[in-house]
Amino acid sequence: MTHIRKAVFPVAGLGTRFLPATKSVPKEMLPLVDRPLIQYAVDEARQAGIEEFIFVTAAGKGALEDYFDTAAALELRLKKNGKTAALAALGQTRMPEGTLSFIRQDQPRGLGHAVKLAQRAVGNEPFAVLLPDDVIRAPRGALAQMVDAHAQTGGHMVATMDVPRAQTSSYGVLDVDHQRGQLATARGMVEKPRPDVAPSTLAVVGRYILQPSVFDRLAVQGPGAGGELQLTDAINADLADAGVTGFRFAGERFDCGSIQGFVQATTVYALDRPELRLDYEKFLRARQESLQAVA
Ligand code: G1P
Repeated sequence: MTHIRKAVFPVAGLGTRFLPATKSVPKEMLPLVDRPLIQYAVDEARQAGIEEFIFVTAAGKGALEDYFDTAAALELRLKKNGKTAALAALGQTRMPEGTLSFIRQDQPRGLGHAVKLAQRAVGNEPFAVLLPDDVIRAPRGALAQMVDAHAQTGGHMVATMDVPRAQTSSYGVLDVDHQRGQLATARGMVEKPRPDVAPSTLAVVGRYILQPSVFDRLAVQGPGAGGELQLTDAINADLADAGVTGFRFAGERFDCGSIQGFVQATTVYALDRPELRLDYEKFLRARQESLQAVA
């Protein structure tokens, strides 16, 4: 069994849907309750045994690097003032020395291009990719579930979920050969197909375990959907050689790249917090009643 040690986090996106907030704050720094999106992704990776964290960033994303820096002066002050809860919260951002690296993408040329830039940092071993926009709430992290399943299947693996046919053009979609339990063996993958030509409604969610052969495919590949270098196309090109399995994770996925998904995730994660739950539930109930009274 190959240990998946490295994960790539493509975080170079502009986050235009969240303007003006993202004018000066990377979208991955927007918080669900009090933790930024990037923290959820990094925690999920850590739970899956990831030891090296490779961020593909861009201009204006400096806050992401600062976020994982040690904040010696702040820690000292919190310690001095006995702020143990705040210290513990800060502790979540602490990563072992030398485990983080940041690579710049000079232009937004697609997810495939971003992943390709991580080739040197990844080297010649299977690796994970996590898109922090996709937040997955699960008792056991989605990537950890995938690592377990991947030990049986090998090859490329993508997280999947069923979507309404009308939404296929927002996702990579699998052409499914056969399914067994949580696993779907693909005979093809297509990026953002129109609903009338989508080969299925089994869509890719932003978690991947990839073989390094994907880099060779990316190196020779032309632009795909939206004129961008698509990761889906590279995986598809490697399908006959390496195999691709779709993995239906157990858990709930929020599209935090959209405002609707972000707001919904905020509510769900707030309700998960014991110290917030009762008051927040009361508030939501009262709100619903007053909305019904108006209707
Ligand atoms: C990316 C991938 C797509 C995948 C999606 C999941 O698209 O290209 O295949 O289904 O993430 O969130 P994006 O949402 O970046 O356009």
